[in-house]
Amino acid sequence: MGAINASIGFDRKLWRQDIRGSLAHAAMLRHVGILSDAEEKAIREGLAAIGARIETGDFEFSDALEDIHMNVEARLTEAIGEAGKRLHTARSRNDQVATDIRLWVRDAIDGLDAQLADCMRALADRAAEHAGTVMPGFTHLQPAQPTTLGHHLLAYVEMLSRDRGRLADCRRRLNESPLGAAALCGTGFPIDRHMTAAALGFDGPTRNSLDSVASRDFALEFLAACAICATHLSRFAEEVTIWTSPFFGFVRLSDAFTTGSSIMPQKRNPDAAELVRAKTGRINGDLIGLLTVMKGLALTYAKDMQEDKEGVFDAAENLALGLAATAGMVRDLRPDAERMKAAAGAGFSTATDLADWLVRELRLPFRDAHHVTGRLVAMAEAKGVDLAALSLDEMRTVEPRITEGVFGVLTVEASVASRTSYGGTAPDNVRRMAAEWQERLA
Ligand code: ARG
Repeated sequence: MGAINASIGFDRKLWRQDIRGSLAHAAMLRHVGILSDAEEKAIREGLAAIGARIETGDFEFSDALEDIHMNVEARLTEAIGEAGKRLHTARSRNDQVATDIRLWVRDAIDGLDAQLADCMRALADRAAEHAGTVMPGFTHLQPAQPTTLGHHLLAYVEMLSRDRGRLADCRRRLNESPLGAAALCGTGFPIDRHMTAAALGFDGPTRNSLDSVASRDFALEFLAACAICATHLSRFAEEVTIWTSPFFGFVRLSDAFTTGSSIMPQKRNPDAAELVRAKTGRINGDLIGLLTVMKGLALTYAKDMQEDKEGVFDAAENLALGLAATAGMVRDLRPDAERMKAAAGAGFSTATDLADWLVRELRLPFRDAHHVTGRLVAMAEAKGVDLAALSLDEMRTVEPRITEGVFGVLTVEASVASRTSYGGTAPDNVRRMAAEWQERLA
C-alpha cells in the first residue's frame, strides 16, 4: 500500500507552496483567535526552519509520511510540539493540496510567460534583421509563393503571443483560493477565507467548497495551453530540421545546437530541434493523462487526483526546456540568403504574380489569367527554364497582348515587394511589424 499511496517522491516539489499556505493559514487562525500569538509564532519559525533545511537539501523526506503535507507537518510537530498539531485546525489535506497546486501552477505560468516573451523577442529581432531576406513560402511543403524569412519568423511571434494569452486566461481563472473549503463542506470554525486568499495573492476565495476540492480544470487548462504552445515550438523545430538539411541548406546552426556523428564525420544533426519536437509528445500525453484521470470521478476528492501532479510538473519543465532551446536556436541560426532566394525562385513561384499581372494590365478575368499562366508554366517546364527565361515572343504565342512589362513581376523581389496588403509579406510591412513587436516586448 505504501508504495502506491506515497506521493512524496514527486509532490515534494510543492514544498514552498505548502509552507506558504500553512503560514497564511496559521496567521489567519491567530487573527480569529484559534491560535495564540505564541503558537502562531512557533509555527511560523518552525516552518521557516523547515523551509531552510529543504532548500539546502538537509531534510529527510519520509515515504511513510506519504506526502509533502504530512512530511512538513510531522517535522513541525517534532520541532515545536503541541502548536504544530493545532495547525491543521479547520483545514484538510484536500483544500491544502488544491491550494498548493494552484500556487505552483501560477508560479509556473509566470515563469513560462517570461520565457515566451524572451522567445518572441528573439524572433522579432531576427525578423527585423531579415525583413527583406527572400525565401520560399510553402503550402503542402511545395514551393508556393516567395515570402521573407522575417515574415515567416513573425508568424511564430503571433502564435506565441496567443500562447501567452491562453496562459494568462488560465492564470486569471485559477487565481481563487480553495483554502478553507476543508475536507469538502467547509468548517464550523470562524475562519476568514478572504484573509488567507489575500495573503496568498489570490483574487478571493472559491465560492463552493465541494468544487474547491473536486476540481482540477485549472490544471487541465494549463496542460492544454502547454500542449498548444509545445505544438507551435514543434512546428518550428520541424522547420529547423528541414531547413538545416543539406538538401535545403537554408540555415546553419552552430555546434551549440547540433551534434556530429561518431561514425559519419560530415554530420550536423539538429538534436536540439528534434528534442523540442519530441517533447511535444510527452506534453500532449500529460494533458490526455489528466483528462482521463478526471473524467470518471464522482464529486468530490478522490485519491485519483493525486495523479494530477506529475503531468503538470512534467509539462511545465519540458515546455520550459523547449522554450529555452527555441530561443537559443532562433538567436543562433545563420541563414544562407543566396540559397533561400534561389529556392524561392524555383518551382515557378511567381506564377501567381504573372496571373495577377494579366488581370491588372490586360483586364483578363482571374480564371482566364490562371489558365493562360498554366500554359506558360507548362511551356517553361517543357523547356526546362524559369518563367522569366521565356522570351516575349514565346509568351505571345499563348497570349498575344503580353508586353515587356510582365518581366517586372517575375522576379522574387518584385513578388514579395508587391504583397502590400495588411499583414502581407512585403518587406516594408514586415519591418514595421517587427519594430512594433520589438517595442511591445521591450
Ligand atoms: N497527497 C494527496 C494528493 O496529492 C493529498 C490529499 C490527500 N487527501 C486525502 N483525503 N487522502 O492528492
